[in-house]
Amino acid sequence: MANASAHALAITGVDHFFGQMQALAGISLAVAPGELVALLGPSGCGKTTLLQIIAGFIRPTRGEVTLGGARIDHVPANRRRIGMVFQNYALFPHLSVFENVAYGLRARRAADAVIRTKVAEMLALVKMTDLAERYPGALSGGQQQRVALARAMAIEPAVVLLDEPFSALDKNLRLDMQIEIKSLFKGAGITSIMVTHDQEEALSMADRIAVMNDGRIEQIDTPNALYDRPTSLFVNRFIGHSNFLRGTMVSADRVRLDAGVELPLSSSRRFRPDAPVIVAVRPENCALAEATQDGVPATIRVTLPLGPSEVIEAVTPSGEHLKIHRPRSPTTPVLEPGAAVCIRFADPTGVGVFSRPNATLPVTTGDIL
Ligand SMILES: Nc1ncnc2c1ncn2[C@@H]1O[C@H](COP(=O)(O)OP(=O)(O)OP(=O)(O)O)[C@@H](O)[C@H]1O
Ligand SMILES: [Mg+2]
Repeated sequence: MANASAHALAITGVDHFFGQMQALAGISLAVAPGELVALLGPSGCGKTTLLQIIAGFIRPTRGEVTLGGARIDHVPANRRRIGMVFQNYALFPHLSVFENVAYGLRARRAADAVIRTKVAEMLALVKMTDLAERYPGALSGGQQQRVALARAMAIEPAVVLLDEPFSALDKNLRLDMQIEIKSLFKGAGITSIMVTHDQEEALSMADRIAVMNDGRIEQIDTPNALYDRPTSLFVNRFIGHSNFLRGTMVSADRVRLDAGVELPLSSSRRFRPDAPVIVAVRPENCALAEATQDGVPATIRVTLPLGPSEVIEAVTPSGEHLKIHRPRSPTTPVLEPGAAVCIRFADPTGVGVFSRPNATLPVTTGDIL
């Protein structure tokens, strides 16, 4: 691999407008050599636009892109040393697998012998050697995906950009490809940015995740830090599952929940007394206690046994639904619907507090099963 710092990618102050519509606002992002950053966010938040700016297919309205410290904004896409796997793979249907992979090398006028060796190496890497003469129309989704990856890698890029690379694959193949790509990139020290809708994919593959919302990066952090310490309600809702409770601050570090209990908070964020807030707590951070103890009073609604664990849904007196995810064993007592319980937060430092501009309360997020 070439000098590692040549693989450092930086995006600084990028804004992008499509006509009047602002697709990106103030994007700054530095990706270290060999790092895999995932862009995660809802449809239309600007993920593909950002990748296309880095790849050189779109010129940003404002801001700069550097690779290895040198500006590449004005370098044409085919000279950027950036490989891209597009959202729909975008293989050339009239070219064989071999010629698809050779495409970037031919565009760079590589010698035939070099092309033969490099394409063979790439096809071996993605286990497609036997299908070199096939055409894309006769390949499965997973095979097309591997050809697209081989094509992106053939030019020995400093950076590989992947736009929803696994979206067409079924669950098992998806997991295989995730493992292969992660080990391939880590082994070769490739810097990469991967777009995904799938938070589990982002959590399992990325060194860091940038959560995007409406053209901005809301938070960029390691998977665990994003999960444990989301800095906004949007990120808290987007990553993992959470329960949300309405409350009003009593003092800087105490909250009165609408559910009818006052609790201390260990949030580092400060709110003025009387500020309306939302308290967010993960299902695995909720513990059940006897109804006589301190905690949020609730009534059991339903219990879902999941073998080694169980999910319990309870309702507070103020009508908020709380999910509790806890380990289960043969001796765990079964909780019947209607039982009165009280819910305590096992780790108070894992409880998030966010301002609540109006009376809205997000519903519990995510598909907990
Ligand atoms: N060529 C274009 N002309 C005008 N508007 C565009 C163009 N490309 C994208 N947009 C708009 O810019 C915004 C961001 O689009 P983008 O494709 O970057 O979103 P995305 O995050 O990749 O979404 P998805 O997850 O659905 O792929 C969207 O509102 C989209 O409609
Ligand atoms: Mg997209």
